[in-house]
Amino acid sequence: MVLRILFSLLVAFIQFLVIAAWTNEYDLAAIQSLKNTWEHVPPSWVGDDPCENRWEGIGCNNSRVVSITLSGINLSGQLSSDIEELAELQTLDLSYNKGLTGPLPPSIGNMKKLSNLLLVGCGFSGLIPPSIGSLQDLVFLSLNSNSFIGGIPPSIGLLSKLYWLDLADNKLIGTIPVSKENTPGLDMLVKTKHFHLGNNRLSGEIPPQLFSSNMTLIHLLLENNSLTGNIPSTLGLVQTLEVVRLDKNSLSGSVPPNLNNLTYVQELFLANNKLTGPLPNLTGMTFLNYVDLSNNSFAVSDVPPWFSTLQSLTSLIMEDTQIQGQLPVSMFSPFQLQTVVLKKNKINGTLNIGSSHSDQLQLIDLRNNLIEAFTVTQRAGYSVQIVLADNPICSEGGTEKYCSIPQPSNTSYSIPPENCTTYRCSSDQISSPTCKCAYPYTGAIVFRAPSFSNLGNSSIFESLYEKLYLTFQSNNLPVDSVSLSNPTKNLDDYLILNLRVFPSGQNRFNRTAISGIGLVLSNRFEPPHGFGTFNFIGESYGYFADLATGPSKSLSSAIIIGAAVGGSILFLLLLIAGVYAFRQKRRAEVASKKNDPFASWEPNTNSGGVPQLKGARFFSFEELKKYTNNFSEVNDVGSGGYGKVYRGTLSNGKLIAIKRAQKGSMQGGLEFKTEIELLSRVHHKNVVSLIGFCFEQGEQMLVYEYIANGTLKDSLSGRSGIRLDWMRRLRIALGAARGLQYLHDLANPPIIHRDIKSTNILLDERLNAKVTDFGLSKLMDEPEKGHVTTQVKGTMGYLDPEYYMTQQLTEKSDVYGFGVLLLELLTARKPIEKGKYIVREVKLEMDKTKEMYNLQQILDPGVNRPPMREVVKEIESIMELAGLNPNAESASTSASYEGENKGSDNPYTNESLFTYSGAHPPSSADG
Ligand SMILES: *[C@@H]1O[C@H](CO)[C@@H](O)[C@H](O)[C@H]1NC(C)=O
Ligand SMILES: *[C@@H]1O[C@H](CO)[C@@H](O)[C@H](O)[C@H]1NC(C)=O
Ligand SMILES: *[C@@H]1O[C@H](CO)[C@@H](O)[C@H](O)[C@H]1NC(C)=O
Ligand SMILES: *[C@@H]1O[C@H](CO)[C@@H](O)[C@H](O)[C@H]1NC(C)=O
Ligand SMILES: *[C@@H]1O[C@H](CO)[C@@H](O)[C@H](O)[C@H]1NC(C)=O
Ligand SMILES: *[C@@H]1O[C@H](CO)[C@@H](O)[C@H](O)[C@H]1NC(C)=O
Repeated sequence: MVLRILFSLLVAFIQFLVIAAWTNEYDLAAIQSLKNTWEHVPPSWVGDDPCENRWEGIGCNNSRVVSITLSGINLSGQLSSDIEELAELQTLDLSYNKGLTGPLPPSIGNMKKLSNLLLVGCGFSGLIPPSIGSLQDLVFLSLNSNSFIGGIPPSIGLLSKLYWLDLADNKLIGTIPVSKENTPGLDMLVKTKHFHLGNNRLSGEIPPQLFSSNMTLIHLLLENNSLTGNIPSTLGLVQTLEVVRLDKNSLSGSVPPNLNNLTYVQELFLANNKLTGPLPNLTGMTFLNYVDLSNNSFAVSDVPPWFSTLQSLTSLIMEDTQIQGQLPVSMFSPFQLQTVVLKKNKINGTLNIGSSHSDQLQLIDLRNNLIEAFTVTQRAGYSVQIVLADNPICSEGGTEKYCSIPQPSNTSYSIPPENCTTYRCSSDQISSPTCKCAYPYTGAIVFRAPSFSNLGNSSIFESLYEKLYLTFQSNNLPVDSVSLSNPTKNLDDYLILNLRVFPSGQNRFNRTAISGIGLVLSNRFEPPHGFGTFNFIGESYGYFADLATGPSKSLSSAIIIGAAVGGSILFLLLLIAGVYAFRQKRRAEVASKKNDPFASWEPNTNSGGVPQLKGARFFSFEELKKYTNNFSEVNDVGSGGYGKVYRGTLSNGKLIAIKRAQKGSMQGGLEFKTEIELLSRVHHKNVVSLIGFCFEQGEQMLVYEYIANGTLKDSLSGRSGIRLDWMRRLRIALGAARGLQYLHDLANPPIIHRDIKSTNILLDERLNAKVTDFGLSKLMDEPEKGHVTTQVKGTMGYLDPEYYMTQQLTEKSDVYGFGVLLLELLTARKPIEKGKYIVREVKLEMDKTKEMYNLQQILDPGVNRPPMREVVKEIESIMELAGLNPNAESASTSASYEGENKGSDNPYTNESLFTYSGAHPPSSADG
């Protein structure tokens, strides 16, 4: 019972230490992590409360972050796996930020409320994490136009609410997954309307099982992959289909005869495959607008009857499809026919297009056929372009216009037309349709299956233009006007238009507006009928007012370093650490060249620049070499990012630990000097003492008292073989707290450690905690100010959120780290393990067990985090409450501080080291 109370008190107390700002603390930690891993975050991201301070792009519902919309604002960096902490996030839109790279963290699967995941046109790579399949509320999944590799995760089949699946324009390989016994597959997505999987490297057959009559798919886009085998006849069961693109694959065999069961299909692309058998019978597909069956190996066939019966056709493209015979005049009668391309067939006889064809008819390209005559019955003033080159009719070097090969038509025009040409705009501003100079947001709108082919007529785009403008207005975006220009078709038969969106009120947009426009274009805008599905690829907007004064600059250069974290983000961290190390090295190199405090310093003389040391001395390289037996492997007792730690024996038999920086992680001379000066002034039984240093022959070494039992982390993980019962843990907590308190309150000037964590707490032979590693420590040069402003450094999982946000380091940052350390002591878990953040886990447990004396109600937030001296007092009183003597065996420790190492008996199995006054054995604590 005592232990249970003790445990409760501790947990409650720890919460007290780690509570942060008003925005939900986990959301805050996640946003901070994003902020720290990204460059070019909005300058409004200052302060410590994204919700309260209305950070741009962060949408909140009370204290919870529910949306992140940051498209097109030049963000760069990777996506931190800490994003998983955003448990209430519904929309994540980071589209059109080419600088966002690296993999998607698998932890993304923990954001269970996510319904819109929009990462269009970024630089993401790596595998699409299968954990995406656990986002049960997902409606929009748009990962198109990135560099994802690997297969389509079968788990996507579990997204039962998915409406939109867009994985196009990546480097995905493998087959299209369908469900098997225990594996899900895309066939399960019966609510999904859009499968956009084009422009990848998908292979294998299209599984017949993919399609069923239960599906409600309207767009099936599989173009430009490496799919093989037959088109499955089950395709004919998906009656809802409106767009079918299977072109540019290696599909073979004959087209299933029930294809014409798909009577709602408007756009059908089967071109550029290896299809054989009879020409598909499209009779009855009365909504067909656009048909492209070119470049297959169909059997020779007569001109099919459906040429004359499909009354909705705008475009009939059938190059090299083995059609023979004479074209009927009736086939030119569909009222919206625009384009007929029947190049390279065996069409013969006389061409007669009649006089009742549509006004829109623009091009009839029949080059390379067997046509012998052409009956001109065109209506007056009508200008259809007819191409009969490479036909018998043109064989005698005919000079008629229809015998020449047309130049690609020039379609450079604007909608609305440019009517401000006399208007001159300065620098890179552009005149808007309303004749105002401004910096527009630009990008390309790509229609993947338009129903028309005539680009020469700008009126086709007027409905698109109007709807775009109205959509921006109805979404309350500060848009003055819109222009569309230069429609072209690319090699994939996509229609591409340049879009410019002009700001109203000012001559430039702010980030909120840009991201709002991006969201409309990636998620909300439905183009008018006939344009089919579209995709916007925005350019990054570089004209924000805060960037106007100079070239874009890193706004957040804070970098997280860290090591002891779960596997999923290890890779990411290694990368960041690598970059960090590289920069540090560069910085150190530059610094040491410019400012070498040892430059004029002869060891053992007292000239200027000599480090001001108290009680620590200089060791020569030769000396240390001797003490460590030439840095032999036997004496190698540990290593870290900085280098190795060697055990050495002084001539008097005293043990020392030598921390030897490896090449590449050397500090600058000045930093090294600072560290040794700082270390030499610190003398406390709970702080590791510096004995000396070596700065010679390109080496940087620190010589410490030898702490026999290594790091707390090793003991917690069981690696050291030391059993840490509850009493021992409490004493360790107290020791570490006292060490920290000394640094904060008694050192002069005060020292902020900045990197409190279990690997920086060492245990001596009596398991006294000793704080070590001052590599990141900061002096409080102006203690009355209460903080120092500095680049954020520290270790993931221990970093104080407020310090993250403000870059203002206070002693409270150490208190936070200490709180996390206490949690680690209690749970023996890493602060971040398998994507779980210990602070959060404990909080959740606390919330569940409300009967815990309702302690959470009396806990104060953030600013009231106690100073270390109160922490020390609190732990002492907790110990006393549990009947322990917090000052037990304090006398014996001074001896070990002096380094005399008197008691060399093995103390670790000796329970009597600590005074148990009536407490139960610690192992019952969890009972
Ligand atoms: C279609 O749905 C029904 C009921 O929802 C189910 O019984 C049937 O197996 C499904 N058919 C296919 C082919 O998936
Ligand atoms: C045509 O589609 C309907 C509706 O899904 C289906 O019942 C029928 O079996 C299909 N016909 C063929 C020949 O596939
Ligand atoms: C094409 O399909 C229609 C309707 O299904 C059918 O009546 C016609 O006979 C078919 N034509 C050929 C050549 O198979
Ligand atoms: C056109 O080709 C068809 C099929 O090859 C043939 O039967 C017909 O006689 C040809 N017509 C002319 C005018 O050459
Ligand atoms: C240009 O066109 C827009 C709309 O089409 C119109 O509002 C504007 O007055 C025109 N400007 C000029 C200078 O003609
Ligand atoms: C961004 O611009 C809009 C409209 O011009 C304005 O209402 C909003 O306050 C601006 N946001 C910021 C953060 O400046």
